[in-house]
This record gives sequence, C-alpha cells and structure tokens, in this order.
Amino acid sequence: MTTLDPWGAVKIDNYSKLFDEFGISKFDELLQKIPNPHRYMRRHVIFGHRSYDSVLEAILCKKPFAAMSGFMPTGKAHLGHKMVMEEIIWHQQQGGDVFLAIADMEAHAVRGKSWKECRDLGINEYILSAIALGLEPGAHIYFQSKFDPVRDLSFELGIKANYSELSAIYGFSGETNISHMVSAITQSADILHPQLKDFGGPKPVVIPVGSDQDPHIRLTRGLAYKTNLFLVEIRGEGHISVRGKAAPKEALKEIAKRTGGKLYEEHVDILTLKHTLLEVESIVREVELKYGGYAFMPPASTYHKFMTGLQGGKMSSSIPESFIALTDKPEDGAKKVMRAITGGRVTLEEQKKLGGEPDKCSVYELLVYHLLEDDNELLDVYTDCVGGTRVCGNCKRFTSELMKGFLEDHQEKREIAKERLGEFGL
Ligand code: TRP
Ligand code: SF4
Repeated sequence: MTTLDPWGAVKIDNYSKLFDEFGISKFDELLQKIPNPHRYMRRHVIFGHRSYDSVLEAILCKKPFAAMSGFMPTGKAHLGHKMVMEEIIWHQQQGGDVFLAIADMEAHAVRGKSWKECRDLGINEYILSAIALGLEPGAHIYFQSKFDPVRDLSFELGIKANYSELSAIYGFSGETNISHMVSAITQSADILHPQLKDFGGPKPVVIPVGSDQDPHIRLTRGLAYKTNLFLVEIRGEGHISVRGKAAPKEALKEIAKRTGGKLYEEHVDILTLKHTLLEVESIVREVELKYGGYAFMPPASTYHKFMTGLQGGKMSSSIPESFIALTDKPEDGAKKVMRAITGGRVTLEEQKKLGGEPDKCSVYELLVYHLLEDDNELLDVYTDCVGGTRVCGNCKRFTSELMKGFLEDHQEKREIAKERLGEFGL
C-alpha cells in the first residue's frame, strides 16, 4: 500500500545524495523544536540544513542571530525569489537581524547589466516585492557596489581563496574575467559581513538557499575557518585542541588560562571535561575579538526544493511560460495557471477511476508552496485529487483565482512599498 503524502509534490528522492555525499543534515530533526514553523518547514519544502541548530538555539533563547540573502538584479522577480524573501522575512519575525544584498557587482560583471539597470531592477523588482511581502524597517538592504564593509571584507577574504578552489566551484577558466571572480568572493563577504564588529559581531547567520547553492555555502564556511586566528577541534573523548598559528602568543596564553588547558608552541590542549565544546568556542571567540580577529562562526544554511516549471521541467527565468513573475498582470498569471501541466489522467473516466497524481502536478505545487496556507485545506485537495473526485478543470480554475488574488494584493502592496523606501534608507 502506498502511504498518502500530501507534501509529495516536493519529492525528496533526488536530494538524498546531498545528505550522504555532502554532509547536509536533515531538517526534520529540528522541526518539532521550531515555534511557528514556516509553511515551507511544515511541508518539508525546506528539507536540509547546515548548522541551523545554532540559529534555532538563538531563536529559542532570544540571543542575537541573523538571516541574509542576495539577489542578482538581472530580470523579473518570480515565485522562486519569493521563497527566499519569505524565508528572510520569517527570520526577521522571529527576532533576527536581516540583510539583503542586491548583487549589482555580479550582474554587471557576469551578465553585463549597466549600473543603472542594476539600480532600477534592484529596487523595482526585488526590494519593492520584499517589502510588499512583509520585510520591515531595520532590515539592512544594500547594493554591493555601494557598500564598503562588504567590499573591504571581500578583499580580505580574497587572500584566503585561490583560483583553483574558486574555479572548482564556479567553473572558472582562463577566459573568465577578473571581476567575475571578484563578484564570487563578494558573495562570501555578503554572507560573512553580518558578523563584523560594526554589525554586532559574531553570531549565527542563516542563508536560505536552493540546494544547488551548497558549494557557495561550503566555500564560505571554509573561508570563515581560514580567516579566523584560531581553529577549535575535538581531538578525542574529552580532548579539545585550540590551534592558532597566526595568533599572538599572549592570545594563546590567555586561552590556556581561561580554559585551564595546557599551552604548547602553537596550540592549547584542553583535556578536562570542565568545558563543553561550545564553551571553549565562546571563550576563543572572545579572545580572538580582543586581539583583532574576526572570530566568524561558519554560516548556517537551509536548503529548499525547487518548484517545477509550469510546463514541466525546470522553472527558469529564461523561459517566461515556466514561471509567474511577481509583477505579471494578475490576468496573465491566472492564464499561466490554466495552461500549466497537471497530474491529471488522459480521460475524465480514468481520472475518476485512478485519481489524479498531485505529486506530479505543477498546479498542486502552487498550492503547496504559495497559495494555500491552511494545511487541512491542502490535505482536502490532495485527498480529493487522489480519490478521483476532483477534476483538473475545476482545480485549475480554483488555483488560478487564488493566483489572481495573490498578484492583485501583492501589487497593491508594492504600490504602498514605493512610498516606504525611505524607511529602509533607500
Ligand atoms: N549569486 C546570487 C545569485 O546569483 C546572489 C547573491 C549575492 C547571494 N550575494 C549573495 C545569494 C549572498 C545568497 C547570499 O542570485
Ligand atoms: Fe493537479 Fe488538481 Fe488535477 Fe489533482 S485535480 S492533478 S491537484 S490539477
């Protein structure tokens, strides 16, 4: 017997490799501990994470944490971008400090967009929609090219990254222009800069991304370790070592003193069970900051699944019929839903006998990801579809009405957002 899975549209099969080969952890393990989990969490659209425990702990204990993401201003903001915006906004509502980069350096160097286009698209497509979706003042919104803290940090990080490492991730070759490489390291600076002293210092920072973005996260986690003065490692049961090749001798001495560890030439051995790893890490961070280091925590990440394109296949900015833009005319958005691929059977008779296949239905996906907030209502759609009592024609009309309503409402809110840009320092 097959089990009913109302979240089946977001199949996890293709993603299991990420857990085994790349060490991404399952989000399920944290889910029960999260107060008011977002729809993407409840429905397993967000399926994996790195170090999200640190963010969750900060949420629960009301300690400082942040969420950050960036958008390359190259075209229309669509439902895929909306996912990231919602995830950032949710973290702001949980008490996080949030950061939004408009990656104009990347769009200029990699996609040849003029600075003016970057500015216009950045504001009109991404920022207005983020505000319309619920981003509140206090959010740090910036354009990479105009933001010195990130540009300065990217230069520092560049010292710790070399061509081979970056080309393995970004596919650089001898023909790649230098500014393209600079924009790649700038993305790492985007991710790490919320932990600079001027932004409140080291803290857990989550980057919500699609699963294909993991290489960037790994690169940045690596850079965080490499730029720090100290490396804290578990060497065995009850044995923690703090290595600090580049660190001043007095700093290492202070760590030995405060942890009760034994001081060697380039490291401290802590053999007691007096301190947990977290305590040692926190002492080391304090000492590192005192001696002028960054003391970055490795950035955390969450991974969401992708929506399929409305015509099947990938949802891609280069195929207008595959996505719905947040600025599509409501009637056009509704029409795209009516033309979308469903999990319906060839004939009505077959549909009644066998039921539909919501797991393969892009219309159902719109309900799961965007249009139905109530889990019970969604479950009803699922059950009726599988049971053969729901027919695709009606279901598409229902969904396209919801889509039209969403777009109308969103676009009204965008108009209001235009008057509010000043509140965000723009
Ligand atoms: N490179 C991302 C893109 O292509 C945009 C981006 C820039 C970004 N800086 C970031 C994403 C920091 C996440 C975090 O869309
Ligand atoms: Fe998709 Fe609705 Fe048809 Fe089921 S009835 S396959 S959910 S369009």
